[in-house]
Amino acid sequence: MTPGIVSLRSLQKTYPGKPPVTAVAGIDLDVPVGAIYGLLGPNGAGKTTTISICTTRALPTSGSALIAGVDVVKSPSEARRHMGVVPQYNTLERACTVEENIQFHCMYFGFTAAAAKSRTAQLLEQFHLTERAKTYPNQLSGGLAQRVQIARAIAHSPQVLFLDEPSAGLDPQSRIAMWDSVKDLHNHGITVVLTTHYMEEADELCDRIAIIDNGKILVEDTPQALKASLGASTIYELSLRETTPAITAQFQQMPGVTAVEPTPKGLRILASGHREALLPQLVNTASNNGLLDLSITEPTLETVFIRLTGRELRE
Ligand SMILES: Nc1ncnc2c1ncn2[C@@H]1O[C@H](COP(=O)(O)OP(=O)(O)OP(=O)(O)O)[C@@H](O)[C@H]1O
Ligand SMILES: [Mg+2]
Repeated sequence: MTPGIVSLRSLQKTYPGKPPVTAVAGIDLDVPVGAIYGLLGPNGAGKTTTISICTTRALPTSGSALIAGVDVVKSPSEARRHMGVVPQYNTLERACTVEENIQFHCMYFGFTAAAAKSRTAQLLEQFHLTERAKTYPNQLSGGLAQRVQIARAIAHSPQVLFLDEPSAGLDPQSRIAMWDSVKDLHNHGITVVLTTHYMEEADELCDRIAIIDNGKILVEDTPQALKASLGASTIYELSLRETTPAITAQFQQMPGVTAVEPTPKGLRILASGHREALLPQLVNTASNNGLLDLSITEPTLETVFIRLTGRELRE
């Protein structure tokens, strides 16, 4: 693997306790420069722990994490210069205004008071926050607070921005605004690493995705390649009164069918090729076997996750 701007090798983290919890169970990962990179996985997959190690909030049990070539364990303060961080929960200083939050961040990174002031003014402008400069964080909506956190995170012009669950708790409109901010930063050359358990978000926003479950990367690729890996262009979800090996075999022999999988309600049929060729046959056979419901979808990252784990991403 060519080392990425974020480069993880055999990364492992076990939280002590009874019993100990292995949150990250050996992750190798390289984020290409300029990418929007997604860590997609269900609750408890180890996404936040991975980000916490990268951002020097937690120490790995073993393995290494380099950001722009800098080891986060050996040189944490140097590594922090290369990264901006928006954690899973709002960490704005509540006693300070929006403007002060950004200014103090700049000064923490060595800006003079004057330089911090002008950088802050520029960021407020860029993020359409100028009118909120004197506002306190608890007066902001979730979407605006998120925007301030992103502006603050990139104030020292880091090469990599980490966003942990950036759209958790945001209404759909704020989520789209956040996506626009991220795309805009990406267009200015910053590398973005984000975690999410929304597959639509990963699909819409990310150039590459690592699907994580139980502290391990199951697959890593572009969203397009991950979906194409299913070898199907259409998915039929059949709800049936009962399923038997004979009916499963019948579906398997139909034109274009690449897989037939049992589901709690019946069968999932993955197929490629034209719908017109398959659908009438499929409905006919299903009707003779107690068809209760049929839905037709295209492969999503959710389908990929189900294929890999047998579970749904959102339980
Ligand atoms: N400080 C901690 N002490 C002990 N166990 C922890 C700690 N933080 C996380 N864990 C455990 O480690 C595992 C991974 O948690 P983590 O928060 O990294 O997952 P996540 O993918 O970010 O989940 P979510 O989608 O809920 O944010 C979980 O089983 C969690 O309970
Ligand atoms: Mg998390």
